[in-house]
Amino acid sequence: MYRTHNCGALRMDHVGQTVTLSGWVQANRDFGALTFIDLRDRYGITQLVFSMDDHAEMCEQARKLGREFVIRIEGLVRERSNKNPNRATGDIEIDVTSLELLNASKVPPFTIEDDTDGGDDLRMKYRYLDLRRGPVQSNIIFRSTLALETRKFLSEQHFVEIETPFLIKSTPEGARDFVVPSRMNPGQFYALPQSPQTFKQILMVSGFDRYFQIVKCFRDEDLRADRQPEFTQIDCEMAFVTQEEVLQTFEGLARHLFQETIGLELPTFERMNYDDAIRLYGSDKPDKRFGMLIHDLNDYAQQKGFKVFDSVELVAGICAKGQASSTRKQLDELTNWVKRPQIGAKGLVYVKYNEDGTFKSSVDKFFDAAALQSWADHLGAEPGDLLLILAGEDEKTRKQLGELRLEMGRRLGLMQAGDFKPLWVVDFPLLEWDEDEERFFAMHHPFTSPKKEDIPRMLDGDFETMKSLRADAYDLVINGVEIGGGSIRIHDRALQSKNFKLLGFTPEEAEEQFGFLLGAFEYGAPPHGGIAFGFDRLCAVMNGQNSIRDFIAFPKNNQGRDMMIDSPALVDQKQLNELALALNLPEQE
Ligand code: AMO
Repeated sequence: MYRTHNCGALRMDHVGQTVTLSGWVQANRDFGALTFIDLRDRYGITQLVFSMDDHAEMCEQARKLGREFVIRIEGLVRERSNKNPNRATGDIEIDVTSLELLNASKVPPFTIEDDTDGGDDLRMKYRYLDLRRGPVQSNIIFRSTLALETRKFLSEQHFVEIETPFLIKSTPEGARDFVVPSRMNPGQFYALPQSPQTFKQILMVSGFDRYFQIVKCFRDEDLRADRQPEFTQIDCEMAFVTQEEVLQTFEGLARHLFQETIGLELPTFERMNYDDAIRLYGSDKPDKRFGMLIHDLNDYAQQKGFKVFDSVELVAGICAKGQASSTRKQLDELTNWVKRPQIGAKGLVYVKYNEDGTFKSSVDKFFDAAALQSWADHLGAEPGDLLLILAGEDEKTRKQLGELRLEMGRRLGLMQAGDFKPLWVVDFPLLEWDEDEERFFAMHHPFTSPKKEDIPRMLDGDFETMKSLRADAYDLVINGVEIGGGSIRIHDRALQSKNFKLLGFTPEEAEEQFGFLLGAFEYGAPPHGGIAFGFDRLCAVMNGQNSIRDFIAFPKNNQGRDMMIDSPALVDQKQLNELALALNLPEQE
């Protein structure tokens, strides 16, 4: 037997028992007469004691055990004289009577401890060692519990878990597809699904009524902390439901998951329409943990002789509480921050509303105290506050102010971990204008239903009408992170065809790409709708973190590479030939 207990199990109750433990050597401390070893496994760390007096030969062997050696020991549980209150097993130790080396280890390239000295690349290359570290293990175990609780909740609500294929034809979700060549069909390719969208809709046509799947999705897009090329969704679809029923069901799921995994009762899920989110937060995913809303100042700041303001579409600002004491240096630094290309503002106007009621601003030459007072009143500022103002084109300026708001929130410590503010953003536009391609795209996806009242206006053709069309589409946002998105779908062939037309598909293109779905709609498709939660993002947000990589056992780096298996990689010419692929690489210098 390798073990009678694990390394996190033993307590005072076990004192006097003979036990067998197996695990990895975490630390080895040699004090001459005694050698102490910390033995680690997934469950915890137990202190082992080897005594020179009692077992000289074994103690010599123990002294030589390096970090990460795998051993099995037998020994007697005894009370520790020097207890460690920071460790669950800290009241006891094992007086070892027999030791067996199960496997040696090379010296690991970084320390296998909660705070490691390993850089990102090294940790990813040796992911199997990184995964031995406590915090990483607990993230992965958290993920497993979250998946289990998801299955429990959805099964109880009569959702059926159904697998959909990975080798499919491209579904347009806005990103590029990963493609897989087909050996048996030379020159033809499968695409890996960006999501199971069309399949889950087909399952509704088939009468499954409630579907879910915890499923891998693949998108060839630029990577960030919250984006991986392969990621996991809790993907769901329901038939015969209104938007309200979908929101209620998935609010229920989110509540269940928070309650069962981190023991937290979520507050009321607020609702906000897309237009208000953009107007007040400069973002379609507002972080509701703090206020600092965007206020328009056109009526108070334009036509007062300051050309910069007079010539623009929007002057707007935010109020940073208690920041009037900011130094010149801090304000210069903040100005540089908004001027970075990632934010792109031309400049920053500040107004200090001093504690004594006076004002000091970067535009004192153009605005008197009465004018500045009107801005302060409009922004709800009090003495001691700092107003930060940007001006420019409406959409861009709101976005920049949204970024500035988040930055101020970070700097002022307003985004507390452990504080969760869930929000449904609803009434998304149906279409989104793409400047580069000069055409409309579906904002969510082409299967999203327009709002009933907007259907008659759908083919007006006029730019403003197209922009004003609204969809039955919704996002779940928690603490400024888009956790999930979904919509009520079109279930009528004629309306779907109309929507494809709106998106610039010819009838032939629509038929070629989505004939199967349009065909299915002709055989009694029920009204349906659904949603998908980003499972990796949910894991990270619930743990107050932004990087989803830490919750994925084998993630890719920012170049989309798996550093451990060193992929992507070249393949043999023979394999390429079989796939009828000619490799046309640019000449290397
Ligand atoms: P959507 O494209 O909004 O909707 O995706 C749903 C959720 O998946 C997560 N997500 C990602 N997570 C990590 N890395 C990525 N690259 C990534 N891309 C998306 C987000 C997002 O909210 N078929 C529709 C759903 C539906 O309409 O039912 C869809 O995929 O958290």
